[in-house]
Amino acid sequence: MIIFQLALLPWDRGLFLLIEVVGMKEKLKQLKEEALQALSAVETASELEALRVKFLGKKGEITAILKQMGSLSAEERPVIGQLANEIRAGIEDAVGQKSEALASEGLSKQLTSEVLDVTIPGKEYTIGRRHPITIVLDEVKEIFIGMGFDIAEGPEVELSLYDFDRLNIPATHPAREWTDTFYIKEDESVHLRCQTSPVQVRVMENKQPPIRIISPGRVYRKDEVDSTHSPMFHQIEGLVVDKGVTMADLKGTLNLVVSKLYGEDCKTRFRPHHFPFTEPSCEVDVQCVVCGGAGCKTCKQSGWLELLGAGVVHPKVLAGCGIDPEVYSGFAFGIGLDRMTMLRFGIDDLRLLFENDLRFLNQF
Ligand code: DAH
Repeated sequence: MIIFQLALLPWDRGLFLLIEVVGMKEKLKQLKEEALQALSAVETASELEALRVKFLGKKGEITAILKQMGSLSAEERPVIGQLANEIRAGIEDAVGQKSEALASEGLSKQLTSEVLDVTIPGKEYTIGRRHPITIVLDEVKEIFIGMGFDIAEGPEVELSLYDFDRLNIPATHPAREWTDTFYIKEDESVHLRCQTSPVQVRVMENKQPPIRIISPGRVYRKDEVDSTHSPMFHQIEGLVVDKGVTMADLKGTLNLVVSKLYGEDCKTRFRPHHFPFTEPSCEVDVQCVVCGGAGCKTCKQSGWLELLGAGVVHPKVLAGCGIDPEVYSGFAFGIGLDRMTMLRFGIDDLRLLFENDLRFLNQF
């Protein structure tokens, strides 16, 4: 019995091994087919990587088969080993090819999706532009800077001391009424400035002559809104103080500015007027830019348009700022910038300047 068994054992084991070898070969071939079939369905790089790990990875199917080789005979091992290596190489090859195919497919997809059509019209970017008031202000600034003037600034919330008292404006002046001025304090000591003239005082307080400044800015008055009035508007203040400055210098300076803005032929008219901070004082008109002086609706048939107030600086104002009126004299003026802008562009309603309507503003 023992002999029989001993005699049978090698055969038995041989048969068993034979079956196992055949099974492994089959399994390997089947794996290859499975892998190739799965590969053909792969569409993305991550699917491809998952497939590579499944078949070729350390814990993959081929490795699993190779691990079973320990049970094979010394003759069979290389046979299965070689087959396994061939199949591995085959799958690796196919995976490599698929990877390349996916990459070039991706590139061409990217190229088609990112194709640039240079014939499509570009996007229109609208850039801002200067407000008509700013355009005219820049022109005026340039003219004055060319004559040696500096630009000065002052606060819009102003002390009544500067806007009224130091400008020689009496306590009874109508501009001091609550109905005319936006007071900030009950005691009337602070308000929204009603003119740019207080900047004169601020400049003279801080600097001895020679002084040559203009000061543009917003001013506020309790006016009802209509085609020529607004509670907020713009002025350009001017001040020149030096030895021997006269009314003639004022006329020469303003005539030059008007001729630069409205043309050489544009005439001016100096009318006597009263301002508490100048003596003598005047108002300056320009010949109507619409009708050329013949008379029309814009100039109310007069042929003239009022542009500014001006005069020779009152000695009291100079002295109040620490400037000796026996040594120095000066002239001052206050231009209505909005008026000037309307005349410049033929705008017939002040409200257009403050409504922020792009249909209007885009014309400048
Ligand atoms: N401040 C005056 C006004 O608002 C205009 C003015 C007149 C300014 C005469 C001046 C000046 O500097 O000298 O009506």
